[in-house]
Amino acid sequence: MRKAFGIVILALLSLLAAGFLQAASDAPPPWAYGFASAADGAANPPAAPAAPATPPAPVDATPKQVPGSSASFPLAQIRDAFGPADWFPGDHPQMPDVVAHGRRPDVRACSLCHYPNGKGRPENAGVAGLPYDYFVQTMNDFKTGARKSADSRKANTNVMIAIAKGMSDEEVKAAATYFGSMKWTPWIKVVEAATVPKTRIAGGMFLRMEGNEKEPIGDRIIETPEDTERTEVLRDPRSGFIAYAPMGSIKKGETLVTTGGGGRTTACAVCHGTDLKGLGPVPGIVGRSPSYTVRQLSDMQRGTRKGVWAELMKPVVANLSNQEMLAIAAYTASRVP
Ligand code: HEC
Ligand code: HEC
Repeated sequence: MRKAFGIVILALLSLLAAGFLQAASDAPPPWAYGFASAADGAANPPAAPAAPATPPAPVDATPKQVPGSSASFPLAQIRDAFGPADWFPGDHPQMPDVVAHGRRPDVRACSLCHYPNGKGRPENAGVAGLPYDYFVQTMNDFKTGARKSADSRKANTNVMIAIAKGMSDEEVKAAATYFGSMKWTPWIKVVEAATVPKTRIAGGMFLRMEGNEKEPIGDRIIETPEDTERTEVLRDPRSGFIAYAPMGSIKKGETLVTTGGGGRTTACAVCHGTDLKGLGPVPGIVGRSPSYTVRQLSDMQRGTRKGVWAELMKPVVANLSNQEMLAIAAYTASRVP
């Protein structure tokens, strides 16, 4: 009797697995990973360099400035992986050493990619305002291999993994306490549009091209700096982003997020809190980069992000199409935290 029961369970599980694989058979949406096209075939662009982790030898040594800061730094310091420029020391508490400087050889300063204020960028992650326990847990997932990118070309996720592996428990705790002490505040504007400025991709980020040429948005969110120079060159942590999303996607996302869309997914508020700002150790998901959000949903669906807590997200993402993930992220990003 017991045995028969076991067999039934096994059969059910394999059915579930088959359904899961079917849903996940779409290739990961390349735009969310910072690529123009899917991973197969020789026609693809080479892997994005882990910019700015290994910057080319600086040619321009003149001091640069950003609006609102009295400081000035040369490019080499703006991009220094072990002590990047801090434009606005008054915008954040005092950084622990690991955030400000990292530790050679592998632990690059968190403030390089995530910025001193923890706002991060679409190709990495916003880390301000994450619950302490979640932060520690997810760093551990990077360490153990439970959190990887579904697109193996995404070089900076591998850099992040190397950083986590190189960190001591004390350093993880210091970083989690520091970033968790700051609130997440909005700096991404979601705009629905049928056509978008033409972009080029640099280091996993979409940058507007010179001139005013436009192209159809297609099934993509194009998240691009409001000011290319201030973000790409100067790494100004006060200069935000515009995320263009297909017409109607916010509304479609709202239905999925708030009702589950009639069984397509689970209403998110159950775990992420009524306003989706986070609940206990479960992280907030509003006002954050939609590219980052889709990347995570996609990684969880494809099983490359599979930490202990990610189990809870499995049924949420199991049946979602790439288009539905896009709509969900357009909606969550458009909400003010
Ligand atoms: C070279 C750039 C880079 C540096 C430096 C860096 N990170 Fe990251 N980090 C990333 C990327 C890229 C991701 C997102 C990975 C993805 O989406 O696949 C990430 C994600 C994270 C996340 C997950 C956020 C979430 O919401 O789950 C945490 C936490 C984090 N980093 C902490 C740190 C800490 C702590 C440091 C400093 C010791 C650090 N990072 C330094 C690139 C970087
Ligand atoms: C049953 C509880 C549960 C439900 C329902 C749920 N989540 Fe989650 N979610 C979690 C947990 C727990 C985590 C942390 C996973 C981890 O540690 O890897 C998480 C993580 C996430 C992340 C990654 C956050 C980050 O900073 O990397 C995103 C994005 C997300 N959820 C979106 C959603 C959306 C969108 C919905 C609704 C469609 C939803 N979740 C519904 C429990 C849930």
